[in-house]
Amino acid sequence: MATTVEHEHQVLRYRTKQRIVHALLATSFVVLLLTGLVLLWDPLGWLAAGGWSRLIHRIGAIGFLAVPAAYLILDRKGARELVYDSFRYDRDDIEWFKTMYRYFLGHAVEMPPQGRLNAGQKLHHAAVMLVSATVVVSGLAMWFFKPQLGASGLAAAAVIHDLSMLALTLFLIGHLYFTYVYKAISGMTTGWVEEADARLEHSKWMDELDAQAEAVTVGSGASSHDEVSQEDQSQEDQSQEG
Ligand code: HEM
Repeated sequence: MATTVEHEHQVLRYRTKQRIVHALLATSFVVLLLTGLVLLWDPLGWLAAGGWSRLIHRIGAIGFLAVPAAYLILDRKGARELVYDSFRYDRDDIEWFKTMYRYFLGHAVEMPPQGRLNAGQKLHHAAVMLVSATVVVSGLAMWFFKPQLGASGLAAAAVIHDLSMLALTLFLIGHLYFTYVYKAISGMTTGWVEEADARLEHSKWMDELDAQAEAVTVGSGASSHDEVSQEDQSQEDQSQEG
């Protein structure tokens, strides 16, 4: 197998199906946020005329609800990794938190070594999962159990729903900030990131990929972990299709 020139000095960070799920998550969240603002905020109330925003909000909710199912159907391995990695913190992660102000300011150099996700990403992803659950439960309660909730139950569900959306919006602002500062967007657009950046920011993950590439080289004569990444993508796609 020849080394691809196209992705020389790059490493595959997200497979196609992971990126599709992330696109569904991002799109449905933005739809929910915008239509939610129209429903909530009086100055935008005129946009809600005709009940369109309520309908689009519900369509966005179905998309948001479909995210975990889509992840499990399309890429079980990716879904498992995401949950497992997000809730597991080691000593290096604790050290990373202690110096994370440096990372906030755009200095990844000399940070404690990190795995596929850095400690901040783990915390973000775990918080997104937990807070999304409260958005979903409170939203479904208001959608399907309005009569049973009564006035006070409905008010409580609305407060939980709105505060949870506020929290997710603040997480998103941070998420976009780091995406911009660390030029991470290619991981979600093409799937590939620069190898040098990955070595700097996720050195333990790169060590794992190097070890896998070594094993492949010994076993089958492949020549770089660029190929391991490609193989990972195509094998994963085939196994999920089969
Ligand atoms: C709207 C624009 C968004 C952009 C540009 C964006 C960008 C990105 C990028 C670049 C990554 C990969 C980071 C890396 O590990 O290198 C990522 C991962 C992720 N993002 Fe976003 N994101 C967006 C919206 C959201 C929203 C709204 C949420 C949650 C409500 C979210 C949750 C996540 C999660 C959970 C991952 C990890 C995905 C996985 O491991 O499969 N993102 N995002």
